[in-house]
Amino acid sequence: MNGSLPTSIIIFGASGDLTQRKLMPSLFNLYRKGRLPKQFRIVGSGNTAFTDEQFRVHLAEGLKQFASFKYKDEEWAAFAPNLAYHQGRYTDLADFKKLSEMLSKWENGTGNRLYYMATPPGLFTNIIDLLGLTDQLHENGGWRRVVIEKPFGTDLASAHNLNQQIHKTLGENQIYRIDHYLGKETVQNILVTRFANTIFEPLWNRNYIDHVEITVSEQVGVEHRAGYYDSVGVLRDMFQNHLLQLVSLVAMEPPASFKADALRNEKVKVLSSIQPIKDGNIALNTVRGQYEGYRAEEGVKPDSTTPTYAALRLQIDNWRWQGVPFYLRSGKCLKEKVSQIMIEFKQPPHLLFPHPDSQMTPNVLVLYLQPDEGIHWRFEAKGPDTASDILSVYMEFHYADSFGQTSIPESYERLLLDALQGDASLFTRADEVETAWSLVDPILQSWEANETPPLTFYKPDTWGPTEADALLARDGRTWMQDIARQMLHT
Ligand code: BG6
Repeated sequence: MNGSLPTSIIIFGASGDLTQRKLMPSLFNLYRKGRLPKQFRIVGSGNTAFTDEQFRVHLAEGLKQFASFKYKDEEWAAFAPNLAYHQGRYTDLADFKKLSEMLSKWENGTGNRLYYMATPPGLFTNIIDLLGLTDQLHENGGWRRVVIEKPFGTDLASAHNLNQQIHKTLGENQIYRIDHYLGKETVQNILVTRFANTIFEPLWNRNYIDHVEITVSEQVGVEHRAGYYDSVGVLRDMFQNHLLQLVSLVAMEPPASFKADALRNEKVKVLSSIQPIKDGNIALNTVRGQYEGYRAEEGVKPDSTTPTYAALRLQIDNWRWQGVPFYLRSGKCLKEKVSQIMIEFKQPPHLLFPHPDSQMTPNVLVLYLQPDEGIHWRFEAKGPDTASDILSVYMEFHYADSFGQTSIPESYERLLLDALQGDASLFTRADEVETAWSLVDPILQSWEANETPPLTFYKPDTWGPTEADALLARDGRTWMQDIARQMLHT
């Protein structure tokens, strides 16, 4: 709608890290690719006293440091005049009126507006209320959309409350709750792999799949974000959003169409089918860990019990997945940075060939999300020049080999473009975010109140606490990281 109107992109929190590292490089790259609207303007808003020129210099410095692409100085010189800065307090009605006047003047009539909340979450409702009070969210000719950064709430009650608050001023169709994992090319590729091929879908169920493992591991610790992280922990930071989003994409039914609500309906169905882990099940199905040295990090309480690692065992109660465990783990200060989904298939029903352990090696499909984006497939083949030896062999597809090293754009690039085009498929809907919280809440409550299971400590540069191995060992399984490495390096 109204694609030809002038479009303003207003970023609250414009002097912050996210704007410099992610948002501006992404917007600049969209501009270089000719994907921004014809008439656009980017207005940074924040407390910091920048002039327009100082703001541009600040962003140009960020670009040099953080852009993952090469660009020409002339391209920046052509883009920079579209950037402006508005100094204002996030709680001051008069400052919001000034912002509104500034935007209306530039629009000279009517225009579209994308507001981006890149501030600390405590300010989201304040800003949205003041935008409402200054009549900046009313769609009178041009569209009005608001992108909301994570974290969206800190538990189910606060997320529900936040939804209620913002729904007073905004329709759900105007709200774009962002989860940057959904902007990753390889995360979107989960759906393409599943639904643009015929060979996977018939096997994608409890009859053929033994279990699913999702690992999102990081090598870095909390770095400069300890102040935020220490009050949040890994379950809120990674599971409620990114990991549960990955589960829903792997496990969902084919949507009726690729439209936002069709897709999101299916994701919500999966989340609603996950058996909540609660009460007596928490000790058995969850592991929480903290890396040694975390308490000595600047900004962390010396007796902090904030988990930096978690592993969960989930069950999905539906026809497709009954009895197929989903093991999830994520943590900081681990051995490798890797995000991967491993799908292990069942053993063949009958062992036709002689095999030393009277067991065949099961097929494994790995959706490798980062850093070496691609798909790996392990299957069995006859050893050459033997009577009937069976060997595991690997087939691999790497994005970088097929499309070049720089083929994968920054996830914010895709998400910003979608928000500008009004496509909310890759953004989280109100019910989705609340359903995800309803799964995480009982675990958080048990961890925080009853200290069950106890917090365990792990050495940095390992795969986390040994209790996470026990979680799988109880089912007679082990984490598959070694297989993943073999697959990568053969
Ligand atoms: C963010 C978390 O959402 O995701 C960070 O707040 C984490 O703690 C980051 O480091 C990981 O993202 P990626 O894209 O590097 O896997």
